[in-house]
Order: sequence, then C-alpha cells, then structure tokens
Amino acid sequence: MPAPLIAVYPGSFDPPTNGHLDLIARGSRLVGQLIVAVLENTQKQPLFTVAERVEMLKEATASFTNVEVDSFAGLLVDYAAHRQAGVILRGIRAISDYEIELQMALLNRRMRPHLETIFLMASEEHSFLSSRMVKEIATLAGDVSSFVPPAVSKRLHAKLGSSPCKPPQK
Ligand code: PNS
Repeated sequence: MPAPLIAVYPGSFDPPTNGHLDLIARGSRLVGQLIVAVLENTQKQPLFTVAERVEMLKEATASFTNVEVDSFAGLLVDYAAHRQAGVILRGIRAISDYEIELQMALLNRRMRPHLETIFLMASEEHSFLSSRMVKEIATLAGDVSSFVPPAVSKRLHAKLGSSPCKPPQK
C-alpha cells in the first residue's frame, strides 16, 4: 500500500481568509497529512508577524485532525523535501492567478521533478477574496466578518485600531 500522501499548502496568509480555510478543508480530504506553511518572507511588509499568522491558522484549523500549521524560510521545494511532502497544494481563483501559479509550479518542478503541484479551484463564494483586499477594507473600518474567521476579524480591527461599521439597515 502506498504511504499516505503528505501535502504542503504554502502561503503568506496575512491574514488567513475564509478562502484559505475552504482550501484547507477541501485539501485535507484529499491527502493523509496537510501542512499549512506560512512563509517567513523578509521582502514583504506583513501586517501580522509569522507567529501571529501561525496562531490564527492553528485556531482556525483546530478541528482538522490531519492538518498541521508550520512556518518556513528559504525555498519551498527544500522545505517540502525536508517534510517528506510529495505535493504542493495551491488555490486558483481567477485567470489572473494562473500565470504566476504556472510559473511557480514549473520552476518548482524544474528544481524538484518529483514534487507535484496540485491546484484546487477556489469555491465560487470565495473566488473574489484576497488577504490584501481584506486588509484594505478593515483599514477603512469596513466589515470583514463574512471574509475571515471571527478571531481573525477581531485581531484585524485590534491591530488596525479600527472598529467595523455596521452594515446599512434596509
Ligand atoms: O500567499 P502567497 O504570497 O501567494 O504565497 C507565495 C508562496 C509562499 C507560495 C511563494 O512565494 C513561495 O513559495 N515562496 C518561497 C520561496 C520560493 O521557493 N521561491 C521560488 C518559487 S518558484
């Protein structure tokens, strides 16, 4: 019998959104173990520290028995090899994601030919979501409660010093 598949789902997760969580839920049903890996990126200026992002993801994925949250630095392919993962999991929302994802998948394959990238299409209701837009909306005191888990929404508003506007009454 083949060994259970280990997959790495890498990303910035600054912050994790309901789109990420949907992908984690669906991905975790396809593999034996899913490692959600937060990139320690020195180039981007993140809103949340790596430790905060790991904590938020751990809280949000606590009910999944085969999901682990970790962080990594350096090349993704090296981290995947270190964790004995055979698969990289990524989500694609719109056609605009495709070009960069294709480039990354092909470069990763050139570096590690046996490491496969598997793409899941974002669910329809999350296909417009991005961490960047969620941060922008929260910065402008918009309500992000339908885009991120409640604990993330709380942390966003606490970090930004904003409180969400109430949705308009009909
Ligand atoms: O959530 P993001 O920002 O779209 O995730 C991008 C991520 C983390 C998947 C990508 O930047 C990455 O893999 N970085 C690690 C460094 C690396 O391996 N770079 C070469 C990729 S071809």
